[in-house]
Amino acid sequence: MADIQTGRDSFSSKFGIIAATAGSAIGLGNIWRFPYVAGENGGGAFLLVYLIFVLAIGIPVMLSEFTIGRGAQLNAFGSFRKLKPGQPWYLIGLMGVAAAFMILAFYTTVAGWTLEYIYQSLINGFSGKNPEQLHSMFESFTGGSWRPLIWYALFMGFTGFIIVAGVKNGIEKYTKILMPVLFILLLVLVIRAVTLPGAGKGIRFLFQPDFSKIRASTILEALGQAFFSLSIGMGTLITYSSYIKKHEKLGQTAVFVALTDTSVAVLAGLAIFPAVFAFHIEPASGEGLAYITLPNLFQQIPGGYLFSLMFFFLLGVAALTSTISVLEVIVAFFSEELKMTRKAATWTATLSVSILGAMCVFSTSLMANVHIFGKTVFDLLNFTSANILLPLGGFFIVLFVAWFYGTEKTKRELSNNGTLKARYIPLFIFIIKFLAPIAIAFVFLQGVGLIKLS
Ligand code: PHE
Repeated sequence: MADIQTGRDSFSSKFGIIAATAGSAIGLGNIWRFPYVAGENGGGAFLLVYLIFVLAIGIPVMLSEFTIGRGAQLNAFGSFRKLKPGQPWYLIGLMGVAAAFMILAFYTTVAGWTLEYIYQSLINGFSGKNPEQLHSMFESFTGGSWRPLIWYALFMGFTGFIIVAGVKNGIEKYTKILMPVLFILLLVLVIRAVTLPGAGKGIRFLFQPDFSKIRASTILEALGQAFFSLSIGMGTLITYSSYIKKHEKLGQTAVFVALTDTSVAVLAGLAIFPAVFAFHIEPASGEGLAYITLPNLFQQIPGGYLFSLMFFFLLGVAALTSTISVLEVIVAFFSEELKMTRKAATWTATLSVSILGAMCVFSTSLMANVHIFGKTVFDLLNFTSANILLPLGGFFIVLFVAWFYGTEKTKRELSNNGTLKARYIPLFIFIIKFLAPIAIAFVFLQGVGLIKLS
């Protein structure tokens, strides 16, 4: 429903805001990426560092995006231009739109794989296969071209279908249904995993910090993971918060969403590690953890057929509520800045992203030999967006709010024009002035290889 004053669509309820924003944050980053990154970086030790970053840097960056988005009530590009006219800050918004193109292309590729795996779960396609066979099953699927492309297109189609319906009747309506489904599925999977005989080892692995495993690279990996998982640094949350009404509490929303996102990462770890350890599988098995290791596991546990179906469906749902948030960044930009209708914006965005998307899909087949800067298109987009664009975007977003937009305006936005106490504001301002930019600069320089720490 359009807002009377601005003529813009907006979220109609508190639950809608939470479902949409948490839906953006919770995704492949939590369920596919977090467990294997934690597994490779020492389990509990990684989790601890990750938690510190979410609290000390993630929430402040998120809140900075909320300040910009709700303050300006425009897309990421338009928001910067409105808040600081005549200065090139809108380039940060433009960089966010570029990052959205890149993330959507490779992310939807991985999301498409979940559809294949839902299908394989349905037809009992993993049955009777040993780990090597499951490995080659994954390789031959991603090594084909048409099949992954069709799943990609279907997933992109679902994403466009929700986005074209608008903020309230699309994003809010679907995330309000999908997020509770996601939680129920996840809880069932966690209960299954932690009640397996021998689960204790996996639980200890996730929660018992082994500080000898913490090195500089672990710390930086944790910060990158926090950015990606919280959907910060590229204007997704600027765009979403531009649909939040002026009486809603931004501080509370940011804290709740960040903690929910983190809980889901921990729950995903609890759904996976106890089972992985109970069956003596190596925890640090990289990107294949979800697509190779888990089907192997589902073969061995009672009720595996159903759990496999639930797991990949959960992964697909989590991915969908994230892909819509990325597409919305582009669609809001196209419709507000290029004056397209929402329909034209949605399908133009979907089709143009898909040119890059097809290249990502083909990165493991037809274009496996095409390397740019030594990387396949998929790896290049994944690397550039997560390690370069998000930290860079996050860095400028906090600098903008702390030093250029102005403390007074920030206070006014976060306290809803002085009607809320919002006692956290001085701490928040201190963090975004000093701690957050320094820490982010650190991860960025490491990401691009300008400094090298172990
Ligand atoms: N946060 C999402 C996830 O964890 C991915 C994402 C990144 C979404 C950036 C929007 C923007 O899967």
